[in-house]
Amino acid sequence: MNILLLGSGGREHALAWKLNQSVWTNPLYIAPGNAGTAQCGINVNLDLNDFDAIGKFCEDKKVEMVVVGPEEPLVKGLGDYFKSKPSLSKIFFIGPSKEAAQLEGSKAFAKSFMQRHNIPTAAYKEFTIETYKEGVAYLQQHALPIVLKADGLAAGKGVVICQNHVEAMAEFELMIQQSKFGDAGKKVVVEEFLEGIELSVFVLTDGKNYLLLPEAKDYKRIGEGDTGPNTGGMGAVSPVPFATHSFMYAVEEEIIKPTIEGLQKDNIDYRGFIFIGVISVNGKPFVIEYNCRLGDPETEVIIPRLENDIVGLFISVCNQELDTVKIKVDPRTAITIVAVSRAYPGSYEKGYVIDGLDYKFDNDSIVFHSGTIEKDKQIVTNGGRVLCVTSFADTVYEATEKSKDVLDLIDYDGIYYRRDIGYEFL
Ligand code: AMP
Ligand code: GLY
Repeated sequence: MNILLLGSGGREHALAWKLNQSVWTNPLYIAPGNAGTAQCGINVNLDLNDFDAIGKFCEDKKVEMVVVGPEEPLVKGLGDYFKSKPSLSKIFFIGPSKEAAQLEGSKAFAKSFMQRHNIPTAAYKEFTIETYKEGVAYLQQHALPIVLKADGLAAGKGVVICQNHVEAMAEFELMIQQSKFGDAGKKVVVEEFLEGIELSVFVLTDGKNYLLLPEAKDYKRIGEGDTGPNTGGMGAVSPVPFATHSFMYAVEEEIIKPTIEGLQKDNIDYRGFIFIGVISVNGKPFVIEYNCRLGDPETEVIIPRLENDIVGLFISVCNQELDTVKIKVDPRTAITIVAVSRAYPGSYEKGYVIDGLDYKFDNDSIVFHSGTIEKDKQIVTNGGRVLCVTSFADTVYEATEKSKDVLDLIDYDGIYYRRDIGYEFL
């Protein structure tokens, strides 16, 4: 089967690595990919916002399955584009429709969806320029801290947690009056702050049935001990020790089942991954957010743990036959540590040669590339997050030691990574 995977990060390298192991895959194209995905298939230079170019490539190469990594093309309607063209509509497309992707693309859409379907989430109200004054009054009487969320996609920066009312009012004005997040912040969700511990829950759904994939915890802060600015993610662990059977049972009953049923009741077609950011508040799960894709770096631990043929799973998704499939998961712990560029998440330089990628690593470790590119037969850095090292072991401690051993052999100018991923589970 000719397969096209869209995206270029560590998530996509992990997906490409897994797709490449499938008996169905031949060949695998990745657009635009990175130096790591080039080891799993053929990188092709396509702009993910250029739907016509993607469609034409699929026609030319007789692509039979498209798998979408990042949210942006989904939120912009790539799924609907494929459905609308007779020459593309038969292609197996893994990713939700434009409407369904609003679960990630609009916080207000997601909140009203949850309210309508009784899915536990923080209490909220939404405001626009028309209701600005009411918003200010609402903020003045709101308990602290106050969570403000720009409605639309804001590259992971649209959530601000305000510790006092002055800060909240200033931020609210910046978003609505000064367009701090552009159109994404024209509507603002004001939300109650939930105190608890977070985990990432992943579901693969065909719109009627779903499979619960392994859960993961990611580490967003740049510094050890969860300090310093937020990043795209510095590491991840799966399974998550506090995600016990009874907790995950509550997640399925109170969150996942009502989500899938809610999509059906609302007549929303969803075939793809749902990533639910869950927070455990005194042992009770609440939804922080929905994403219409897999997480990065969570994918780099959950996909290696998945033992099923992933293309077989995707075919079942498109045929709405997921009820006939049983998920098989490696019971060992997987952790990943992300190595980044100097000064990330601030502005950083690219183009440094990466040494040590040729070592023959232990079979329990995999190096996934995030921001890398091949130049003059050398692999060089090409992003803030450069690569991540996933390792398997029976314990979190052993797994992190293995990844650190591999990272000790890898070097580039400005390499930095957290040595404490999984620290609270040691
Ligand atoms: P989001 O972009 O919705 O994932 O939000 C980014 C981060 O903000 C989340 O991962 C949480 O750590 C935090 N956050 C969002 N909403 C809340 C909330 N209602 N209470 C506490 N923390 C939150
Ligand atoms: N790791 C969080 C995300 O992918 O959004």
